[in-house]
Amino acid sequence: MTELDGRSVMLPGSVAMPLVGLGTWQLRGSRGYESVRRALAAGYRHLDTATMYGNEAEVGRAVRDSGLDRGEVFITTKLPPGRAGQEERTLAESLRALGTDYVDLWLVHWPPRSDVLLRTWGRFRQARDQGFARSIGVSNYGTAELDRLIDAGGEAPAVNQIRWAPSLHDPKRLAAHRERGIVLEGYSPFKSSDLRDPLLTRIAEVYGVTTAQVVLRWHLEHGIPVIPKSQTPERIVTNLDVFGFELTADEVAAIDGLSRN
Ligand SMILES: NC(=O)c1ccc[n+]([C@@H]2O[C@H](COP(=O)([O-])OP(=O)(O)OC[C@H]3O[C@@H](n4cnc5c(N)ncnc54)[C@H](OP(=O)(O)O)[C@@H]3O)[C@@H](O)[C@H]2O)c1
Repeated sequence: MTELDGRSVMLPGSVAMPLVGLGTWQLRGSRGYESVRRALAAGYRHLDTATMYGNEAEVGRAVRDSGLDRGEVFITTKLPPGRAGQEERTLAESLRALGTDYVDLWLVHWPPRSDVLLRTWGRFRQARDQGFARSIGVSNYGTAELDRLIDAGGEAPAVNQIRWAPSLHDPKRLAAHRERGIVLEGYSPFKSSDLRDPLLTRIAEVYGVTTAQVVLRWHLEHGIPVIPKSQTPERIVTNLDVFGFELTADEVAAIDGLSRN
C-alpha cells in the first residue's frame, strides 16, 4: 500500500482513495442530500454508498450540485448479496442513480454463496475492464474468501471493507491484508467504540480534540481508510479535521490495547 501525502492511499491502476470518507448508511432523502452537500463543502472527497442504502440518487445529485468536477470525488457503491448473478444490471442501475459513467470503487457488499463467489468476482473484473468501475473490491470477506479469489484468478481485490475500530483491532488480520496487497478499509468506527473511554479521553485532551477524532486519527496512523457517518453539521466537519495532529507510537499502541481480540 502506498500512502500519498498522508491523506490518500493508492489502489491498483493509480486510483487515489482519500483516507477519510463520508459513510452514508441511513442518510436518505433530503437529510442525506444535505449531509453530503455539507461534507463536500467541508472538504470530503470520498463518499461511501451502496445499492442497499437507497440513497445513490441523493449522493449523485449532491455531487453534481456541489460544483465539483466528477473526477474530484471518490465514490464507492456496493452490490447487494441478493444481486449476485445480476452484477451488470445492478451496476448500470447504480450509475444511472448516481448520474455518472463510472464509480471509483465497486464492492461486493457481502460474500455471495460459496458456489457463485468466483463468478461474481469475474463479473466485477469485467466491469472494471469495461471502465464502469475504476477499482473493484469486496466487503465483509474473511481471509479464506480473499484467498479463494486470488487463487482462482491471480487478482486480489483492491479493498476489503470491514468493521474496524480500536476494540476490534486485529494486527494479524491487518497484516494478512497487507501481505496480499489489499487495502483494509474500516467501517462503523464509532459504533464499536466507547467514546467516553478514559484512555481516549486523556489522549483527546492532550491534542484538544474529541475522542471521535482520536479514533479516526488512530485509523490513519495504521494507514486504514475510514468512513464515519454523520448527519450532524459540526460532526461532519470535525470528523474530517484529523490531519492537524498525530498520535505518538506509544499512544497508538495504547489504543491498540483496547482491542478485545
Ligand atoms: N460494508 C458494510 O457492510 C458496511 C456496514 C456498515 C457501515 N458501512 C459504511 O460505514 C459507514 C459508517 O458506519 P456506520 O454508519 O455504521 O457507523 P459509524 O460511522 O461508526 O457511527 C455513526 C454514528 O456515530 C455518530 N457520530 C458521528 N460522528 C460522531 C462524532 N464525531 N462524535 C460522536 N458521535 C458521532 C452518528 O451520529 P449523527 O449522524 O447523528 O451525527 C451515528 O449515530 C456507513 O455509513 C456505511 O457507509 C458499511
